[in-house]
Amino acid sequence: MKPIHQTHADIPLSAEPAINPSSHITNSFAGAWTSIGPNNKIIESRIGDYTYTMDDVTVNYAEVGKFTSIASHVCINPVDHPMDRVTQHHMTYRRAAFGFAQTNDEDIFNWRRGNRVTIGHDVWIGHGAIVMKGVTIGSGAVVGSGAIVTKDVEPYTVVVGVAARPIRKRFSEETIRQLLQIAWWDWSRELLEERFLELNDIDAFIRKYG
Ligand SMILES: CC(C)(COP(=O)(O)OP(=O)(O)OC[C@H]1O[C@@H](n2cnc3c(N)ncnc32)[C@H](O)[C@@H]1OP(=O)(O)O)[C@@H](O)C(=O)NCCC(=O)NCCS
Repeated sequence: MKPIHQTHADIPLSAEPAINPSSHITNSFAGAWTSIGPNNKIIESRIGDYTYTMDDVTVNYAEVGKFTSIASHVCINPVDHPMDRVTQHHMTYRRAAFGFAQTNDEDIFNWRRGNRVTIGHDVWIGHGAIVMKGVTIGSGAVVGSGAIVTKDVEPYTVVVGVAARPIRKRFSEETIRQLLQIAWWDWSRELLEERFLELNDIDAFIRKYG
């Protein structure tokens, strides 16, 4: 027996997105230093620089900012079925696969495309959370494990529960205002390297850059 140790998080990253080969990705974009974990399904979404997903994550029709952390089993934008049709089964819009027509019903896919989710920078989405259609989550927010987010979340706000409700802010209103103004997530790689250790002390950081 040999000791073994390798986690997804240990794999070195680079300016090229690191996509686990078990994941299925359709018409999407990812920035530098991004990492997409195992068994993800991503459709028509944009993933900002440094953002990572752990295993079994679903992302449909979403804009995700930079430096966002997405835990295992998160689902962003589980799409709706057409409840007003005689049947809500997907054969009415995936009709080509079922041999009912030559092409699919794009109206349904366009309807889904119109309900995009927007997630800001430096958001942390906890294990198993679900972010419902059309929701916007502000930068710096936290979504607790198992939450179902049905309404917009303000920046730097912690939300938990089903349906998710705010429990607190991470920082004072003044600190939040300054962080949003500093927008450190837009710094160049060079600046980020230079100021990297300063990210660990919020008070000194605000004093220096606020
Ligand atoms: C949301 C979270 C960050 C809050 O942490 P915290 O600020 O230390 O909060 P506390 O543990 O003090 O809990 C505060 C209140 O929220 C409740 N709460 C905390 N997390 C909750 C959750 N995920 N769902 C429902 N309620 C939650 C607590 O029961 C407590 O309620 P009370 O005030 O009525 O007693 C944390 O609980 C969480 O969910 N972390 C995500 C962990 C995760 O999924 N990691 C994945 C790996 S990246």
